Parts: sequence; C-alpha cells; structure tokens
Amino acid sequence: MSKFPKDFFWGGATAANQCEGAYNEDGRGIIRNDFLTAGSAASYRCITFLDKNGKLQKLPFAAPLPEGAKPVIAEGEYYPNHIGIDHYHRYKEDIKLFGEMGFKMYRFSMSWSRIFPVGDEEEPNQKGLEFYRNVLLECKKYNIEPLVTLHHFDTPYGLEEKYGGWTNRKLIDFYCHYTKTVMSEFKDLAKYWLTFNEINNVIMIGEMMPAFATKEVMANAYQSLHHQFLASAKTVVEGHKINPENKVGCMIAGIVSYPLTCDPADVIKTQQSMQNGFWYCGDVQCRGAYPHYAKRLWDKYEFELKSEPGDDEILEAGKVDMFTFSYYSTGCITTHKEAEDGKGNFQMGAKNPYVNYNEWGWAMDPSGLRYILNEIYSRYQLPIIIAENGLGAVDELTEDKKVHDDYRIEYLREHVKAMKDALSDGINLIGYTSWGCIDLISAGTGEMKKRYGYIYVDRDSEGNGTLDRYKKDSFDWYKKVIASNGEDLG
Ligand code: BG6
Repeated sequence: MSKFPKDFFWGGATAANQCEGAYNEDGRGIIRNDFLTAGSAASYRCITFLDKNGKLQKLPFAAPLPEGAKPVIAEGEYYPNHIGIDHYHRYKEDIKLFGEMGFKMYRFSMSWSRIFPVGDEEEPNQKGLEFYRNVLLECKKYNIEPLVTLHHFDTPYGLEEKYGGWTNRKLIDFYCHYTKTVMSEFKDLAKYWLTFNEINNVIMIGEMMPAFATKEVMANAYQSLHHQFLASAKTVVEGHKINPENKVGCMIAGIVSYPLTCDPADVIKTQQSMQNGFWYCGDVQCRGAYPHYAKRLWDKYEFELKSEPGDDEILEAGKVDMFTFSYYSTGCITTHKEAEDGKGNFQMGAKNPYVNYNEWGWAMDPSGLRYILNEIYSRYQLPIIIAENGLGAVDELTEDKKVHDDYRIEYLREHVKAMKDALSDGINLIGYTSWGCIDLISAGTGEMKKRYGYIYVDRDSEGNGTLDRYKKDSFDWYKKVIASNGEDLG
C-alpha cells in the first residue's frame, strides 16, 4: 500500500461565518446568514424578515422572499452565527491547539464583509485586514500553511440589497476587487487560495428543496453561477500575477451518487445527476469551458445563459491549479418509486442498504471517497485537496472534561485508509483538511450539537456555555496520524 507523500498537508478547516462570531464588531458588514435562526435535523433554519406591511415573518432559508421583504434581526430570536464559537477573540488559543496537533495546513475563510462591509467600497476596512493578518501570522508561528477560502457562503448583504446579489454581473467586479485586495495584502503570508466554497451548492437547492426549484429560481441559480465562474477565473489569473507561486483551487461539494439498481434507467439518471450536481462546476473550472451536457441541463428550466463577448476567453484563461472538494457521504439514485429516502450533504436520493448512516441521516461511506478521488483524477489530472470531511455527531463532555469520541476516530480512520487506497491507485492527493477541526455552528442546521471537531467547545444549540475549549480523544489520535504521516492510525 502506498504511503502519504512526504509533504502531505494534514490539517483542518473552518469557515468565518460559522466560527468567528463578532458579527457586528470592528466594522464588519452584515451577511444573509446573520438573519438565520437555528434549525435541526427535522426543521429548516429560517430567515427572519419584515413583510411589506411591516409584520415579522419567517421562511426556510432557501425560500425566495416575498416582494418588499426586508430581512431583520428580531428580538427574542436566537441567531447562532452572531457569536459562533467566538473564534474572532480566541483565534490565538485555537491556532495554538492546531499547532499542537501538528497541523501542516489550516483552511479558513476570510469574510468579505469584514474587508468591504457593504461590498462595493473602494477602500478596505483596515480592522478586517488587521484581523486576518494576525490569523496568518499565528499560522506562520506554528509552521502551518494557510489555505484561504475567499468566499464561504458569505456575500455581503449590502450587495444583495443594492444589486440583487449574484444574478447581477456587477458582483464580478466587486468580488475581484476584494480578492485582489486580500491576495495583494497577504502575498507574503498565503499562497493557497480557494475562490468559492461549494460553488455547486446554488444549483443543488433544486434537488434539496424541489418545492422551491421553480424555473425562475433555477434560471437565477445558473446565471449567478456563470458570474461566479467568471469571478473565480479572473481571480485565478490575477492571483498568478500577484504571486506566480499562488495556487488557486475550486471548491466543490462532493455530490457522489451510485445507481440504486443495475436498471440502465437508474444508471443514466445517476450519470445525469452527477453531471448536474458535481461535474458541471468542475468541468467549467478545471477545463475552462461549459461541458457538452450544459445545454441539456439548462433546457430543463428553459434557461438561456446570458453571456458577453470575451466570457469564453476568461473561463479558458482562469482554469484552477488544483481540484479541491468536500466529501461526507454518498447517495443512491433510482427511477423506482419504492426506494426509501437518504440524506447527506446536499445528497438526496434513495437509502443505500450497504452503508451506515449518522444521526443526521448522512451515509458514512469511506469507499465512496476512494471511488470519487479516482473519478476526479482521471477526469482532470490535477493535484487534489480534500478540503472537508468528517463526522457530525453529538458528543458528551464528561465530568472530568473529556470527550470519548471513538465513533469519530473510526469514521476518520476509515477515510484516511480510503485516501491511502486511492494513493495506491495512483492519484495525486496533496492534502486533507478535515471539517470543523474545532466544533462550530452547523451550516445546515445552525446547531452546535452537530459537532465535527477534535476540540470540544462548551456551547450548546441554544447559546449556553462557557465557550471553553477541551481536547477530545480524537485530538490525540489525529496528532499521532499527522506525526506518523498517516502510518499510525491507532
Ligand atoms: C459543507 C460546508 O457543506 O458542509 C460547511 O462547506 C458545512 O460550511 C459542512 O458546515 C457540514 O455541513 P453541516 O450542515 O453539518 O454544518
């Protein structure tokens, strides 16, 4: 069996809006997630808003808001992202713990609205730059290579209010102004960048919440995505100018599906679902052009892409340097009605009888990781980073402040083994930053109890707790894995 390459980037990942908190400090501008309440495995997170008559209302986060609606932070509601895990004030303590585990890479996101609070300003907010400079310097102190996500579900809300969000082409320039600003400012401190977290998630809404997937919603999604592809491509080009050593990657949610049966209709349906959910974005960002099946996907919603002369050249010039993706679970696709539903990270479809499921119904399928790594590498031949992977689970802090999370160790161990298998297959995997290396707010449900970390944070789903940090058993396990470069899996 192959070994991990000598300079393999072992590490962990977080996102600003889920961990920083300090949502209105030091000039940070508001984002849509600041208006989201907490949900659960059984109930959607909701957005709170005043309707056109000034009445307070709530709707599931992905639902289009009625005309005249104005999102608001309502008194008496709990908004988990406002405090997050208070990483904004505790980043030194947190990065020190990452250093103690031996992290080689730390993936975190910069919050656009900390740098440009409304999003369309000329001049950056110095306080925002100062915060990220400090974070980067802290990484440097522990020899941790930063992997910076430039956008993780956090477009400044000002751009939605003033310009209608990503359906407006103007956002490309605002985004590029922001990315150029931070890439130039930090050119001596960071060289690995990701342009948009899980860029495919905007079109997955269609499969996750079909009730909301009207033709208009999906047309907006494809058009917004076109603008994000262009923004990403321009950032790749600019990033290379700023520092030729910069490596800029895509970040795509690993939507991995199997046909539930060998019925050819299931196989075709699965192929089409993978094209829509996963390859569509990868093909544009890695190959620099829309794939042959794009028109078929658009036709389903009678969508016609609005593009401008020069767009094709931009996409072609801005191909990414590495393929970066998240992987949590797999799903099954079938044309047969009797199948039972399965869930996952944007993973819909039927339940797989051959894998186990976590408490949120996500399939735990390490072999799926080996499978998709091979598929990705044979399609693109680019270096790969697994930017997210992990087990969301309920942990118990014992009286002596321990967390015995053997279930998490088991999950991670099996995925590290799958990575090794994929290395033996010959793929070029250069890094692994597991998700939520420190417990943080769940993006999907807003809960705190869905924990992924090696470090326990004392806070519950209602916002109680000291926010103190405690090492879980998985902390020591991962430390050994890193120290042995993936040989000692305990
Ligand atoms: C990915 C996101 O979709 O999955 C993260 O990039 C998110 O932001 C992670 O937290 C896990 O999902 P959840 O819903 O369990 O937080």
